[in-house]
Amino acid sequence: MPLSAPTQPLPVTEASRPVSADRIVRVGILGCGSVSQHYMRHLRTCPHARVVSLCDAVPGRAGALASEWGVTRHYSDLEAMLDGEPFDLFVNLAGMQRHESLNLRAIEAGKHIWSEKPIANTLQAGREMLDLARSKDVRIWGAPTVVESPQFAFMARALAQGELGRLTAAQATYGHLGPDWAAFFYTREGGSLPDLGVYNLTFLTGLLGPARSVAAMTSIVTPHRHIQGTGEIEVTEEDNAMVLLEHEDGVLSHVACGFNYFNSEDHAYTGQDHHTITVSGRTGVMKLAGYDWGPHAVDISTVDRPAYTRCADAPHDYVWECGASMAAECLATGREPMFTPEHALHVVEIMAAARESQATGRHVRLSSTFRLPLIA
Ligand SMILES: NC(=O)c1ccc[n+]([C@@H]2O[C@H](COP(=O)([O-])OP(=O)(O)OC[C@H]3O[C@@H](n4cnc5c(N)ncnc54)[C@H](O)[C@@H]3O)[C@@H](O)[C@H]2O)c1
Repeated sequence: MPLSAPTQPLPVTEASRPVSADRIVRVGILGCGSVSQHYMRHLRTCPHARVVSLCDAVPGRAGALASEWGVTRHYSDLEAMLDGEPFDLFVNLAGMQRHESLNLRAIEAGKHIWSEKPIANTLQAGREMLDLARSKDVRIWGAPTVVESPQFAFMARALAQGELGRLTAAQATYGHLGPDWAAFFYTREGGSLPDLGVYNLTFLTGLLGPARSVAAMTSIVTPHRHIQGTGEIEVTEEDNAMVLLEHEDGVLSHVACGFNYFNSEDHAYTGQDHHTITVSGRTGVMKLAGYDWGPHAVDISTVDRPAYTRCADAPHDYVWECGASMAAECLATGREPMFTPEHALHVVEIMAAARESQATGRHVRLSSTFRLPLIA
């Protein structure tokens, strides 16, 4: 299918400043696997983005996606992509272990970045990446986008207005039986924390504020897995994790995630409506219905209105795969998204601290932070 007509290219030196709303940001996507169909579909609805280039190391994969979506250029490695069709925004949909090095190379080449999670493997590497991006006058953002949903906004406003009274605690959980299409989910620098826990950790820190310290237990429940096209692999990163966070003022939260949670629906099922996040205060409690990446509503009970009331349940267009489109919109119009790279790096530090806590049996203090409130 043909894409929209070419428009004036976005000059790299100007691109981090707002430009006129009719500018189209040229997008290059690396990684044409499972998640790429979701991104292609969303980017097609974005008036500020045009996908001009695709890249995948697996022979035929980028070409197949290119013909399906009418993208004219496709490549099999990043260097060829950078030397080929010019583009402004690099969308990184490779496996988790590859994000950091690919993001760095694309920043060096003067590209803005939208990266699937995590944007870097360590806080230190992530900080250096942000410094490099600033020196190159380019922007970087990373998944997840959960703070963009209307349900997050409702919960953040309820807290800001003191609806729950003195805030005390929150719990969140997300799990399924684990993907079987790629080994990277289970090997070094993969695991259930950066694939699953990252959503709840981003949502809860976005609501409750940065964590000051972390205590965690992690384990490997299924030591071997069968991966399509690869065969049996050894699982070397946690597939079961429980993380405790200490926030300001004695507020505590808890995230449970894993690749061994029975789930009667497919892992990507957006229809389920049960509660996955609970936030409690002394005079109220609220519960998120649905996943934070696919939310439906918020049920709230307070001392003045004890019966649970369903709120924030209007139809909405938030979907988890909106990040690349929002990055393009920001580059084109100057409209800033709520997700920030500093928040993403705080979550990277939490996940590393959780592993350190498991290894040492100790609480781990954190050094990173990010700007709050996300919702005024
Ligand atoms: N699949 C999902 O439901 C889902 C949902 C949300 C986020 N994510 C995240 O999206 C990312 C990708 O996940 P996926 O499920 O699409 O994985 P996938 O294995 O299906 O696709 C990744 C693709 O990247 C390509 N690739 C990796 N390194 C490359 C390189 N150096 N050069 C060119 N191509 C390269 C691989 O060949 C592969 O085709 C991960 O970070 C994952 O955590 C996945």
